[in-house]
Amino acid sequence: MTESEFILKDGFEYPNEGKVAWKAPSNIALVKYWGKKPNQIPANPSISFTLNACATTTSLAFQKLDKKSDTFSFDLFFEGKPKEDFTPKIITFFERIERYVPFLKGYHFIIETSNSFPHSSGIASSASGMAALALCLLSIEKLANPTLGEDYLKMKASFLARLGSGSACRSIEGDLIQWGAYEPISKSSDLYGIRYPFRVDSVFKNYHDTILLVHKGQKTVSSTVGHDLMHDHPFAQQRFQQAHHNLDKLKEVFEKGNLNEFIKIVESEALTLHAMMMTSLPNFVLMKPNTLEIINRIWAFRKKSKTHVCFTLDAGANVHVLYPESEKKEVFQFIQDELVAFCENGHYICDRIGHGAKQLKG
Ligand code: DP6
Repeated sequence: MTESEFILKDGFEYPNEGKVAWKAPSNIALVKYWGKKPNQIPANPSISFTLNACATTTSLAFQKLDKKSDTFSFDLFFEGKPKEDFTPKIITFFERIERYVPFLKGYHFIIETSNSFPHSSGIASSASGMAALALCLLSIEKLANPTLGEDYLKMKASFLARLGSGSACRSIEGDLIQWGAYEPISKSSDLYGIRYPFRVDSVFKNYHDTILLVHKGQKTVSSTVGHDLMHDHPFAQQRFQQAHHNLDKLKEVFEKGNLNEFIKIVESEALTLHAMMMTSLPNFVLMKPNTLEIINRIWAFRKKSKTHVCFTLDAGANVHVLYPESEKKEVFQFIQDELVAFCENGHYICDRIGHGAKQLKG
């Protein structure tokens, strides 16, 4: 679909008031999105596992205004309390999507949102948060136009979520989502995420992700600043090409269930992401000593145990430990015995691949 197809048509009767709610999951990229063009267009395609336990629940109560206002009118509550800090992010999001959601200024909204994971866990909530809010808005669109099909709604939710936070467009559906124009997948788009269309071996079906919370503080570089550092980065073009190559290689890996190759690609992507940050100007080191300790221990254990445990990282110090269902007992024991000691206050989150967002009773 093209951008203009997401612009709402006139002539529908919008409800006066109501409430809608969604729970949207977080996701973890296997091939990373790092670097973007204007309007939230990714510099390279990416692919992610949708998660299950890490999620944001958002309800959106709406009340029609007597006349369309000049500004966006909303109150925002995070975990039951008013949250001023989120206001600028929501306003930026609304400004970016207004063209596609023209009813925004016709309502007063009450946004109530909460995360399943602790607020100060260093886990980005923007992906699940923006996805949940986008889905709520689409539910209002659907109330006005009940003929809208599921596929369109999901695609547009992903399209809107992307305008809030790029990776959020991969948080609508499960379980493996590809975002960004990529030649071998004709339906792929820079504008929204789609379900990975090729065959995926059953070994990836119940994949585990245990998230080790190494550092729960605020990140020293926001992802927006981080993406900007890819402009004029000396290795940018090679990196963008590498993402395409890694997606090429993953096709066979997913098809055949080749875990050894999967590990090589996923760990290389994680380390490349951090290498990009370390070699940009200004540069950042977001790994902590405990991040490296965990990585070394995973490598040693993998060699010794012949399991297929591996890691990936987001733009921070936490480590996502990935492993197949068939090895969960052995790997989880190793995590408890050797890795939990390197987590802040021993905290970690047990997650696994999930199946996408769910609508809740408003
Ligand atoms: C390292 O989606 O948070 O997690 O579009 O500026 O909101 P914005 O960036 P964001 O970037 C995510 C970067 C990443 C890799 C990934 O999820 O692909």
